[in-house]
Amino acid sequence: GGLALSERETRAVGTGDSRAGVWPNDPYPAGSGVAERYATLRALLAGELDADALVDVLKDSGLRGMGGAGFPTGQKWGLVRKAEDPVKYAICNADESEPGTFKDRQILADQPHLVLEGLLLGMAVVGAEQGWVFIRHEYGPEEHVLRAEIDALRAAGVIGADACGSGRRLELDVFVSPGGYILGEETALLECMEGHRGEPRNKPPFPGNYGLHGRPTLINSVETFADVPVIVQRGATWWRDQGLGNSVGWKFFAVSGHVERPGVYCVPMGTAVGALIEQAGGVSGGRAVGAVQPGGASSNFIGPDQLDLALDFGTAAEAGTMLGSGALVVLAEGTDLLAAATNVLRFFRNESCGKCVPCRVGSTKAYTLLEGRSSLDDAERARIVELEEAMRKTSICGLGQVALGPVVSVLGLRKGGAAARPQPRPDGAEQPDR
Ligand code: NAI
Ligand code: SF4
Repeated sequence: GGLALSERETRAVGTGDSRAGVWPNDPYPAGSGVAERYATLRALLAGELDADALVDVLKDSGLRGMGGAGFPTGQKWGLVRKAEDPVKYAICNADESEPGTFKDRQILADQPHLVLEGLLLGMAVVGAEQGWVFIRHEYGPEEHVLRAEIDALRAAGVIGADACGSGRRLELDVFVSPGGYILGEETALLECMEGHRGEPRNKPPFPGNYGLHGRPTLINSVETFADVPVIVQRGATWWRDQGLGNSVGWKFFAVSGHVERPGVYCVPMGTAVGALIEQAGGVSGGRAVGAVQPGGASSNFIGPDQLDLALDFGTAAEAGTMLGSGALVVLAEGTDLLAAATNVLRFFRNESCGKCVPCRVGSTKAYTLLEGRSSLDDAERARIVELEEAMRKTSICGLGQVALGPVVSVLGLRKGGAAARPQPRPDGAEQPDR
């Protein structure tokens, strides 16, 4: 059932209403089973829907990767579809581990059918027979839900040697991460699945060209895959219309920290930070906002003067932070922001895989300087800024590049200025949304 556009804001719901079928994005009636769902996959496999047309719908919709970086999804699917190789793979990255991030967990629990339909559509479009959900090992209940859904798909003949009677082979499996935050980085994930130590590879080549066992591999996150069948069924225009202002579509956020009702919220993309905090019941204890990390632990803090910020990839980057992994962390006025940012740094220091010297040594140096401190003198500030720059410019993966960003942003806020602005990349490329 489609939703009238006028209903959309009132239907933005939080954890309290998070039963399957009530999320505003789901095109399938609540309580329907495998037989009623997977309609887009059936249409594609029956030849009623053209794979190139599907990619065009994704491009038209403006869907961007919800893992955090916001790479255009239609473009990625088009690239992997065009890659010339008889063997390709597809992987759903469900290794969500960013502190404060738990929205993919809710999607896996409530909408496994959308996640798996998106993954199967991806496999059919790029020409992969085998797909996996790579899931965080702490997500045991969600792994169980996925395995039950995969069993139901196999029993119904939707997947298998003759998927939906199309003569095509589509197989799904779940790969449980052995643990470690860095395995969520897509190339570390690939190394892990190949049986190697889980360290990121240098990019490029990107997995779309050179992925699992060197084969072209389509990797998207849970929310991105779940959005695909919704968009294909309801149309690119419908999807675009769901966002506020210039933004497109629905967005799941995990809201945590000092709010009355922490949980997962599905709101139109472009919703203001302050409005989302209100949906979560406002700051706990009726206090004022001290600072917000709008995109998980790797995102720079923004101040209480930036609550009008529209949550979207571009606007977040312009404000000196990022949309990131869809985790809004709220800190009430009076919280020691430097201690909070140092806590985030400690996480990154612990999770650094150690492959690059600047990340391995820099995160430890910075943490040693900051541990237990409530203020820094000018020389110490300069040291932190220098370490941040070195790590951002020389680390090979996002962890090292962003590890000190939140600390530097807090130092900016404490000086009374705005959060640290993103610096141009040394190669002159556009600064990604981090
Ligand atoms: P990235 O910008 O390197 O890549 C993003 C995606 O686009 C990747 O799938 C990559 O393969 C693809 N891509 C980029 N350029 C491409 C090209 N020229 N051709 C083909 N494909 C291309 O970003 P990365 O390092 O993969 O992700 C960083 C984000 O991850 C951060 O923004 C952060 O928010 C998020 N993150 C999420 C976490 C979570 O738990 N959900 C944890 C940590 C970080
Ligand atoms: Fe490992 Fe850090 Fe280098 Fe990433 S930046 S590959 S986590 S050492």
